[in-house]
Amino acid sequence: MTENNLMEKIVSLCKRRGFIFPSSEIYGGLAAVYDYGPYGVELANNIKQTWWKQMVRLNDNIVGLDSAIFMQPKVWEASGHVAGFADPLVECKNCHARLRLDHLLEENGVAADEKMSEDQIGEIFEKNKNKIKCPVCGRGNFTGVKKFNLLVKSNLGNFASDWQKEPVYLRGETCQGIYVNYKNVLDSARVKIPFGIAQIGKSFRNEITARQFIFRTREFEQMEMQYFVSPGEEMKEYEKLKKARWQFYLSLGLREKNLTWHKHENLVFYAKAAYDIEYNFPFGFKELEGVHARGDYDLSQHAKFSGQDLSYADPQTKEKYVPHIIEASAGVGRTFLAVLTDAYEEEKIGQETRVVLKINRWLAPIKIAVFPLLKNKPELVKKAKQVYNQLKVDYLCEFDDNGNIGKRYRRQDEIGTPYCLTVDFETLADGQVTVRDRDTMKQTRVKVLDLDNFFRDKFV
Ligand code: GAP
Repeated sequence: MTENNLMEKIVSLCKRRGFIFPSSEIYGGLAAVYDYGPYGVELANNIKQTWWKQMVRLNDNIVGLDSAIFMQPKVWEASGHVAGFADPLVECKNCHARLRLDHLLEENGVAADEKMSEDQIGEIFEKNKNKIKCPVCGRGNFTGVKKFNLLVKSNLGNFASDWQKEPVYLRGETCQGIYVNYKNVLDSARVKIPFGIAQIGKSFRNEITARQFIFRTREFEQMEMQYFVSPGEEMKEYEKLKKARWQFYLSLGLREKNLTWHKHENLVFYAKAAYDIEYNFPFGFKELEGVHARGDYDLSQHAKFSGQDLSYADPQTKEKYVPHIIEASAGVGRTFLAVLTDAYEEEKIGQETRVVLKINRWLAPIKIAVFPLLKNKPELVKKAKQVYNQLKVDYLCEFDDNGNIGKRYRRQDEIGTPYCLTVDFETLADGQVTVRDRDTMKQTRVKVLDLDNFFRDKFV
């Protein structure tokens, strides 16, 4: 399978089987915005629940938060987003296509990436200008490099005419909601440093180019944890966090050979260290999550802009300081795409090709599918419904009596269902059903009365 081929196959499977749909498709879609279908929402929820469990439930000193998408516009001034949250853009003078410069360079075979500084990218563009062609019209005549701010403006509270002077933005990252609630959490949740605040929620960015499916979208979900530490402990805690984040992706079942660390060479002035965990997507190794040591920049900026004291008084030493922050910032969509990429397999079975998603059992959207062998035998359908109703209390199950058993297996393989269970004529006599394993395709007979026991340890 070539890399492009694999991407096309994943995109097609996502649409065909109800994982991901283009947004408002009946109206022609909306670039870089996607909807999660019946199986997609289950997989995304399972990813989020795993993250939440590992972050909040299993760590005594990390608490959760759900802050609003809309925030006081000063937040984005303080954070530096209003002035500096921008990508380099050029415009084709012929067709007026607006193009993200690092992508344009890459598409023309010139080495560049989004981690380069503005100046570096601008320099590379100047040197290679004569061989760069517009991907839309094929000409090679561009404007100079401009900065394009990624914040998405809204007209919230647009009752007065002056909203454009200070628009309310849709948040560009979830962590700002954490920073501005740091004091509230500290005063209410009996936490003391070191402690973390975790949040999962939507973020919005006016990405210049829409490409690579759900890898880069204009509306997306982030899973962010900000850990507040004393200045002297920052780097020690950072190393611990890096290890834990790597383990998270292994726990999702991603193959370690498909993961790598990318060190940021161009650190912003306040950062102590910045690494990304990259995954080997069908289009190459790209960022899955950022793990950053941010010093005291975030709280200091918010203290300055809000006029509030955001320092911390250590209850034991009485020392007063502005906490330093280390963050783990991951995307739900990118993790989703990584899970699908890692799990997608095609196997030759005789003359046929079996497409199977070998997703971790507990991440799979549907855990167990229940079939009556034949749909026109009421006694089999009745028994299968009974088994289905028994199992669906604890597991997300699907009842299917369409087509022949072979077709039902193929459908469940494609959506990653770990177990298919068939009720046949023998079931009526011996009270046993056939349980078929997705990965080995092995079939075993299990008593209906033992099914709870059989599945108990399969999804933890
Ligand atoms: N608070 C830090 C922060 O937001 P980031 O590297 O800009 O850092 C963190 O974003 C993560 O959010 C990325 O690693 C990625 O998984 C996800 N992400 C960022 N922009 C995205 C986009 N346009 N579409 C999908 N996911 C995105």
